[in-house]
Amino acid sequence: MTTASNMSTRFLVMSASLRSGSLNTRLARLVADTMTEKGASVDFASMEEFEAPSFNSDVERLEGLPGGADRFRQRLEATDAFVISSPEYNASLPGVLKNTIDWVSRFSPQPFNERQGLLLSASPSMGGGNRGLWSLRIPFEHLGARMYPEMFSLAQAHQAFGEDGRIKDEQLQSRLEATVGAFMDLVEAAKHYPCVKSAWIEFLGEHPDRSFDRVDAP
Ligand code: FNR
Repeated sequence: MTTASNMSTRFLVMSASLRSGSLNTRLARLVADTMTEKGASVDFASMEEFEAPSFNSDVERLEGLPGGADRFRQRLEATDAFVISSPEYNASLPGVLKNTIDWVSRFSPQPFNERQGLLLSASPSMGGGNRGLWSLRIPFEHLGARMYPEMFSLAQAHQAFGEDGRIKDEQLQSRLEATVGAFMDLVEAAKHYPCVKSAWIEFLGEHPDRSFDRVDAP
């Protein structure tokens, strides 16, 4: 179900590939178009915009947080939820994406906390890059993001798209649309009925210690 109220929701949709001709960019674009057709407002982004130097606490202390991380934070904060289509590299997530997540996690308030997220992947392989998404869930779950349980991984993606940018297999295309629609409805519902959560605490369950605690209280 996609309701008229979806028109009020805003989504950041991005590809985590730096490559021109990226399959993940094609999938992200398809999802962005689907969301727009369903009435959402979409901000389309590329990994290039959020690249940052390798994380280094000394750089953070001396120079502050890099521009790429700040741009990602701003775009996250301007939207209700994020969608990332990410390549799988060596059965895991791309280093460039993890590096940016690490930088963004240093902002306070921590921008991923309580933000709804949907993960997608595309690969020429039979697994569609799905193993990489399980790795990608870990930092997001750790940071308090509300990751949608279903993840769409497009297998044999090099042969999957038609010239119109849609998935050639109609059944697969409609499964993608159904997943995207259900995610949009969840984001809309969560916007009006936010889950009660008292704080984000980086090491929940550890003995409190002011010298290293990182806590975002509402
Ligand atoms: C890959 N690729 C890949 N694919 C996959 O399904 N599982 C994997 O573990 C890997 N590992 C891997 C490592 C490295 C270093 C490269 C360069 C590639 C293939 C990858 O999915 C393919 O190149 C995609 O097309 C990359 O995504 P984009 O750039 O097309 O979005």
